[in-house]
Amino acid sequence: MMVFHQVSVGVLLYALFALCSLHWGSAFGVGVTQNASLIIDASGNSSRSIPDTLFGIFFEEINHAGAGGLWSELVSNRGFEAGGPNTPSNIDPWSIIGNESSIIVSTDRSSCFIRNKVALRMEALCDAEDSNICPAGGVGIYNPGYWGMNIEQGKTYKVVLHVRTLESLNLSVSLKSSDGLQNLATANVIGDASDFSNWTRVELMLDAEGTDHKSRLQLTTMRKGVIWFDQVSAMPLDTYNGHGFRKELVSMLADLKPRFIRFPGGCFVEGEWLRNAFRWRETIGPWEERPGHFGDVWKYWTDDGLGYFEFLQLAEDLGALPIWVINNGVSHNDQVHPSTVLPFVQDILDSIEFARGGADSKWGSVRAEMGHPEPFQLTHIAIGNEDCGKKHYRGNYLKFYYAIKDAYPDIKIISNCDGSSRQLDHPADLYDFHIYTSANNMFSMAHQFDRTNRSNSGPKAFVSEYAVTGRDAGRGSFLAALAEAGFLVGLERNSDVVEMASYAPLFVNDNDHRWDPDAIVFNSWQQYGTPSYWVQQFFKESSGATLLPATVHANSSISVVVSAITWQSSENDNYYLRTKIVNFGSNIVNLTISIASLDSNYIKSVGSLKTVLTSSNLMDGNSFKEPNKVAPVQSMFENAGNRHGC
Ligand SMILES: *[C@@H]1O[C@H](CO)[C@@H](O)[C@H](O)[C@H]1NC(C)=O
Ligand SMILES: *[C@@H]1O[C@H](CO)[C@@H](O)[C@H](O)[C@H]1NC(C)=O
Ligand SMILES: *[C@@H]1O[C@H](CO)[C@@H](O)[C@H](O)[C@H]1NC(C)=O
Ligand SMILES: *[C@@H]1O[C@H](CO)[C@@H](O)[C@H](O)[C@H]1NC(C)=O
Ligand SMILES: *[C@@H]1O[C@H](CO)[C@@H](O)[C@H](O)[C@H]1NC(C)=O
Ligand SMILES: *[C@@H]1O[C@H](CO)[C@@H](O)[C@H](O)[C@H]1NC(C)=O
Ligand SMILES: *[C@@H]1O[C@H](CO)[C@@H](O)[C@H](O)[C@H]1NC(C)=O
Ligand SMILES: *[C@@H]1O[C@H](CO)[C@@H](O)[C@H](O)[C@H]1NC(C)=O
Repeated sequence: MMVFHQVSVGVLLYALFALCSLHWGSAFGVGVTQNASLIIDASGNSSRSIPDTLFGIFFEEINHAGAGGLWSELVSNRGFEAGGPNTPSNIDPWSIIGNESSIIVSTDRSSCFIRNKVALRMEALCDAEDSNICPAGGVGIYNPGYWGMNIEQGKTYKVVLHVRTLESLNLSVSLKSSDGLQNLATANVIGDASDFSNWTRVELMLDAEGTDHKSRLQLTTMRKGVIWFDQVSAMPLDTYNGHGFRKELVSMLADLKPRFIRFPGGCFVEGEWLRNAFRWRETIGPWEERPGHFGDVWKYWTDDGLGYFEFLQLAEDLGALPIWVINNGVSHNDQVHPSTVLPFVQDILDSIEFARGGADSKWGSVRAEMGHPEPFQLTHIAIGNEDCGKKHYRGNYLKFYYAIKDAYPDIKIISNCDGSSRQLDHPADLYDFHIYTSANNMFSMAHQFDRTNRSNSGPKAFVSEYAVTGRDAGRGSFLAALAEAGFLVGLERNSDVVEMASYAPLFVNDNDHRWDPDAIVFNSWQQYGTPSYWVQQFFKESSGATLLPATVHANSSISVVVSAITWQSSENDNYYLRTKIVNFGSNIVNLTISIASLDSNYIKSVGSLKTVLTSSNLMDGNSFKEPNKVAPVQSMFENAGNRHGC
C-alpha cells in the first residue's frame, strides 16, 4: 500500500490584521521536512469572482436517504402498496400480533384512494369475553418502521390513519418498545357501528412517556370483527421548519451552506426500467393519495412522502437553488424513441409550471393548494443522469432542450455529455462531470480542469457527483477526504470553467449500505459526518467569494495544493481571507505564507485562525461511537506575525 501522508490544513485568516507572513509547519509527518513558500497576491489585480453556486449538495434516494432518513415518516409501507397492486399481497414490514386462531390479515383493493387501492383487512376472531378470548394486549398488526422508530420521551407524535368497519370499534393505537412489551404512548379510537362505516380519517397526538430508538407502532383490538386500514402515518411533530424533514439531518446540510441541491437522483431518476423511474406527478398532492413506487435501481420501496414538492421546499428552506434532474425517456434498460418522447416533454413542462407557475395556472394551483402559493425559484433542469452514451439520449435531449428554452428561456439546461475535453455537439448551459476514483487519482485531478480550453465559450462544468471510492475510502476515510480536498481546491482554482460541484452520495442509513462511502451516516436517532463531509465545510464560504492568485514555491517536489479566497461576511460585514492548504504527500512541509499587497482598509487586528483536519492513520473514519474522530480542529494561529519589509 502507498504510504502517503497527512495533513490537510484549512488555514483561516480572520480579518486581515497587519500580517504579512506566517510560518506553519505541520505537527505530523513521516518523512523529512521540506521547505516551501506560499505567496498570495491580495492586490486584487488578478483576482476573480467564484460563481455563486460553486458548492452545493446532491440528494439521491439511495441508501434509504429519504424514506427512512431525511423524511421524518416513521411508518414504512404506510399504504400497504409495497407488495404491489395485486391482492392478496405481501405487507412487509408490517407484522401480525396474534396467531391464526385469533386473527386473519389480508389485503384487498377496497381503499378510498384512487391511485393506491390496496387496503389492509384485519379480522379479529377473538373477543374480550367469549369462548375465544383474545390474548392479553389484544390482536392486530404492528409496523417496525425503518429498522425501528425513534420515539423519545416528552416528544409528541402525530398519527394519522384511515379506518373502516361495519361494527363498533375499540382500537388501540400505541407506540411500543421494540419487543412490544413496554408501552410508550397509547390512545384508543372508539365508535359505534355507524361511525366508521365509511372510510374515516383519524388523527391522534401521542405523547411519548418513554424512549426507545427502535420502537414500533401497533394497532390492536380485543373485539371480534373486521377492520380495514389504509394510509397509516406516524411522524414526530417537531420537524425542520415544520416541513417534515428530520431536523438533525437538515441541520447538517444547512451547516454546509449549500448553494444548490440537485435531486432526486442519480440512477433513481432513470430506473432500471422506465416503469419504475421517478414520476413527479405521482409524488405531489396529499400524501394519502400518493401511490409510492419501487425504486428498482437501489431496490427498495418508497411511499414518496418526500416528493417533488418537498424537494423544492427543502431547497427553499436551505436557501439553495433546486436542480431538478428529469427522466428524459431513458432508463438503464429501455428507452423511448425521440419520435414518441413528446408526452415525456410535456410532463416536464408541467413540472416546471408546478414549480414556477402562478397560483392560478393549472399546475401552479396544485402547488398553491399544497400550501405554497408563491412560486419556487427553479432555474436549472438537468436532462437525464449519466445517459450521454445512450442511443436516444441526444435525440430526446434536443426535444427537451428546445421545448424548455422555448417556454422558459431563462432556465439553464444541463447535459449529461462531458464537455471538458471536447466541444459538445448540442447546445447546453452546463455539462455533467462525474468522477468516482482512487485517492491518488482524485488528488491528481486537482489539475483536471487546468486543461479545459478557455478560448471557446462552451458550457461550464457541473461536477455533480464526485467521491473517492473503493479500498481507499472504505466507509469514509481520512485518505479519501484528503484527496477530495485537493480536488475541490482544484475546482475552486478552475471556477472560471467549473460552475458547480457536489459530493455523492449525501446520506446513508447505517442499516442499508447500498453505496459507500457517503457524506452523512445515520440510524433512527444518531448521525455523524464522514471525513468527506468535514472537508466540504472548508469550502462553505467559497461560493460567490473572490479567488486570489496563490502559488507554492518549493525546491523539491511536494504534493501540496493551495487556494486563497476573500469574502465579506453577511453577518458582520467584515472581510475575511482564507487559504486552504492540502498536503497529500508523506513529508512535513514547512510552509511560509506571504500575503502581498493587503489593502490596509481591510486590515483589523482580530487575529488569525487555523483549522486543521488530519489524523494519525490514513484509513481513520468516524462512527457513532466516535463521531468526531476525524473532524476539523480550530485554534488561534499562534506564530503568525509581521515580517520586515512587506
Ligand atoms: C529548511 O529551512 C531551514 C531554515 O531556513 C533550514 O535549516 C533547513 O535546512 C531547510 N530544510 C531543507 C530540507 O531545505
Ligand atoms: C530554494 O532555493 C533557493 C536557492 O537555494 C533559496 O533561495 C530559496 O529560499 C529556496 N526556496 C524554498 C521555498 O526553500
Ligand atoms: C497591482 O496593480 C497596481 C496598479 O496597476 C500596481 O501598482 C501593483 O504593483 C500591482 N500589484 C501586484 C501585486 O501586481
Ligand atoms: C395461538 O396462541 C394461543 C395463545 O395466545 C395459543 O394458546 C394457541 O395454541 C395458538 N394457536 C396456534 C394454532 O398456534
Ligand atoms: C377499549 O379497549 C381498551 C384496551 O383494550 C380498554 O382499556 C377500554 O376500556 C376499552 N374502552 C371501551 C369504551 O370499551
Ligand atoms: C358514506 O359514503 C357515501 C359515498 O361517498 C355517502 O353517500 C354516504 O353519505 C356516506 N355515509 C356516511 C354515514 O357518511
Ligand atoms: C480551443 O478552442 C478554440 C476555439 O474553439 C480553438 O480554435 C482551439 O483550437 C482550441 N485549442 C485547443 C488546444 O484545443
Ligand atoms: C521553517 O521555515 C522558516 C522560514 O524559512 C525557518 O525559519 C524555520 O526554521 C523552518 N523550520 C523548520 C522546522 O525547518
